[in-house]
Amino acid sequence: MTDTGKKSTMSNDALAQPIDALAEVHALTEAATTAGYAPSIHNTQPWRWRLTDRTLDLFTNRSRVLTVTDPDARLATLSCGVALHHARMSLAAQGWRVTTTLMPESADPDHLARIHVDGRAPVDLPATLHLRAIPLRHTDRRPVQGEPVGQQELRAITAAVEAEGTWLHTLRPEQVFELASAADHAQRTEADEPAWRDELAYWTGGTRPVGTGIPDAAIPTRATRTTVPGRDFGHHGDLRVSADHDKAAVFVMLYGRADEPTDWLRAGAALSAGWLTAIESGVSVLPHSAPVEVLATRQALRVMLASVGHPYLVLRLGTTDPADAGPPHAPRLPADQIIEQP
Ligand SMILES: Cc1cc2nc3c(=O)[nH]c(=O)nc-3n(C[C@H](O)[C@H](O)[C@H](O)COP(=O)(O)O)c2cc1C
Repeated sequence: MTDTGKKSTMSNDALAQPIDALAEVHALTEAATTAGYAPSIHNTQPWRWRLTDRTLDLFTNRSRVLTVTDPDARLATLSCGVALHHARMSLAAQGWRVTTTLMPESADPDHLARIHVDGRAPVDLPATLHLRAIPLRHTDRRPVQGEPVGQQELRAITAAVEAEGTWLHTLRPEQVFELASAADHAQRTEADEPAWRDELAYWTGGTRPVGTGIPDAAIPTRATRTTVPGRDFGHHGDLRVSADHDKAAVFVMLYGRADEPTDWLRAGAALSAGWLTAIESGVSVLPHSAPVEVLATRQALRVMLASVGHPYLVLRLGTTDPADAGPPHAPRLPADQIIEQP
């Protein structure tokens, strides 16, 4: 009897091995595919995943980094951080326990992270909610209307950001005017540079590579009436906007202790956590990165933080009308173009 029992346990283990391995590959593929929904600067999707055994590695895809707008790849790295958090949420929602290592190879700065599957875990319910919000999330450049974001919602978004090791500062009214001036200065500085204009036109005009870039459907038909100027894409799109002023907008800044690639990755994870929490709370998010792209205005943002931290990204928050589906979603690259499998 004992022998039989032993045999049966051994054969179960032997059977469990290949099934688990297949399940892990499936879960990791699913995680990298889900990560493809992440927002990125100009929808460049500057990531590449490599799936081996029980491991998913995340790399910067240098061919999709904006060399003029983002020479240090800070916004590309931040975008990859969002993708990494999306992948983690997918795995947690599927009931997998993982270890995530940032910058696992000091010799390769493009190797941003490694997710290793450690085993099964109970399904993580908050991650399940986030997973549901991932395909619904999108960038809405229309003026914000209705009531300003409530304190409870702001607290939930702040807590989600801080849980990922980044801080969130809510701008005071006078700081919103300072931000407006910084955003305006940054965009003028960039627009004066032909190489910058060419890069913007490449990713947001008719030439954008298939599956990437910002379509006209997501770009307003005319300049919106906003205190803080939105991104000037150099042309008008097809997104209908009201003539209302976005007086109800609340502006927040993601910031942190240091200004290194690991911090930008964490900021991306915080952006993901904050944005998904915002959706769950009926709040829309519009990133404003122009003031971060230009050194002088990035320093001006730093002064707004009393120089206690480094600014990573500014976000406009507003309440959403649940009946309004918003602008169409920007395209994405197919999974087989972002995931390498052996
Ligand atoms: C790091 C980062 C910076 C961004 N900066 C801006 C910006 O300055 N202005 C803007 O209109 N959208 C900005 N976006 C939004 C992207 O354009 C948007 O995520 C992308 O086009 C994909 O569209 P989706 O968010 O609707 O999926 C930014 C997104 C990220 C992640």
